[in-house]
Amino acid sequence: MSQFGLLRAPGAILFGAGQRHAVGRAARQHGSRALICTDKRLASLPDLAELQQNLKAAGVESLVFDDTQPDVPRECVDRCVEHARGFAPNLVIGIGGGSCIDLAKVTALLLTHGGDLSTYYGEFRVPGPVLPLIAIPTTAGTGSEVTPVAVVSDAERTLKVGISSPHLVAHTAICDPELTYGCPPMLTATVGADALTHAIEAFTALRRAPQSDLADTHVFVGKNVLSDQFALRAIACIAPYLAAAVSDGQNVKARSKLMLGSLLAGLAFGTAGTAAAHAIQYPVGALTHTAHGVGVAALMPYVMEFNRSACTSEFAQIAEAFGVTRAGRSLEKLADTAIEEVASLFASVGIPPTLADLGLPEPKLQWTAEQAMGAARLVKNNPRPLDVDKVLRIVEAAFAGDRSSLRFS
Ligand SMILES: NC(=O)c1ccc[n+]([C@@H]2O[C@H](COP(=O)([O-])OP(=O)(O)OC[C@H]3O[C@@H](n4cnc5c(N)ncnc54)[C@H](O)[C@@H]3O)[C@@H](O)[C@H]2O)c1
Ligand SMILES: [Fe+2]
Repeated sequence: MSQFGLLRAPGAILFGAGQRHAVGRAARQHGSRALICTDKRLASLPDLAELQQNLKAAGVESLVFDDTQPDVPRECVDRCVEHARGFAPNLVIGIGGGSCIDLAKVTALLLTHGGDLSTYYGEFRVPGPVLPLIAIPTTAGTGSEVTPVAVVSDAERTLKVGISSPHLVAHTAICDPELTYGCPPMLTATVGADALTHAIEAFTALRRAPQSDLADTHVFVGKNVLSDQFALRAIACIAPYLAAAVSDGQNVKARSKLMLGSLLAGLAFGTAGTAAAHAIQYPVGALTHTAHGVGVAALMPYVMEFNRSACTSEFAQIAEAFGVTRAGRSLEKLADTAIEEVASLFASVGIPPTLADLGLPEPKLQWTAEQAMGAARLVKNNPRPLDVDKVLRIVEAAFAGDRSSLRFS
């Protein structure tokens, strides 16, 4: 087995309750003017004023853009860049959910290199370093605080689009679980389920031959010995605590475990990448206008069933990370148990079990499969090779709620 490993990560990661108060010192090393990308929700809370005060005490003046829209529409990026240009920031701080952090990433990109955002869509299109970024998540979470990708929506494109480049990795990530205490139950479930799918898809991603140019030719290199460490640990953090955080938002231990898990999942998929569940969610999200995390989680058990024959050993380890004991069980049995555990955890936190429940129209199943194939970097990363017919079988099974049709296929 290949022992190749790759880790791309921020220069500093601060984790723990209260660590948001370190932001001033972290920012000061980059200059005296910080642009803050956030949304109206955070702007209405004392947290934002506190953050600005903290920056000011460290000698950093700040300008706030508080109109981040979910899923980062391109016009929102343009407005943020215009808002910031005259201020000439030395660094950009993204504080909020994945949308605010992704907006900070692409704003830093455009303030540094200019041009049209669409010229950066895809992989390795960012020509060099961007303004230093500090990412402070308030959801647990997308992992965007440590990943090399920003996801935006473009009215000229049917599906959301990614900008992937090692230059988009934040300089500093500050993960303070206290910022997530106010997340309502469904948001907690949705983003926590997204984080768990990141870990599962990274841990089961295709393992590529370790050519010496692998890291230069792929932003997401597939399963490797470093991402595996983070992925498995992420599952062990999230699986036992997701339902607890959803049912009691003030459960401090569960909140902390979820934030640690989503950070570790980000470190895993930030180099390994994700796969079929994320590819199929793109068209599903575009048609149903459902949250990213809901779509990937609804799809995950079906994708696992399809991938089962290629990932028996990995699924057995996932079952163990869920707390299932190996004693007396075959690898095959453990792999089945992993799929059951994932499906029942998601059901218990209110993730709809089928694509029909998400509102996907039945006549659009073929279209969904064809569009998913367009997310080539994700499709190529799946442990079992995919073509449009195979994706269609997953989509049909997920629509009908029929995992058994994928079994031993
Ligand atoms: N760049 C990456 O690596 C990456 C990875 C996965 C997903 N994403 C992207 O991230 C976006 C989704 O991010 P998200 O799921 O964090 O949601 P989000 O950032 O879109 O926010 C959703 C809603 O939650 C609210 N919210 C955020 N924090 C809250 C809190 N603590 N309490 C109460 N409400 C809060 C926001 O105000 C907003 O209304 C999507 O665009 C997705 O494609 C990016
Ligand atoms: Fe995701």
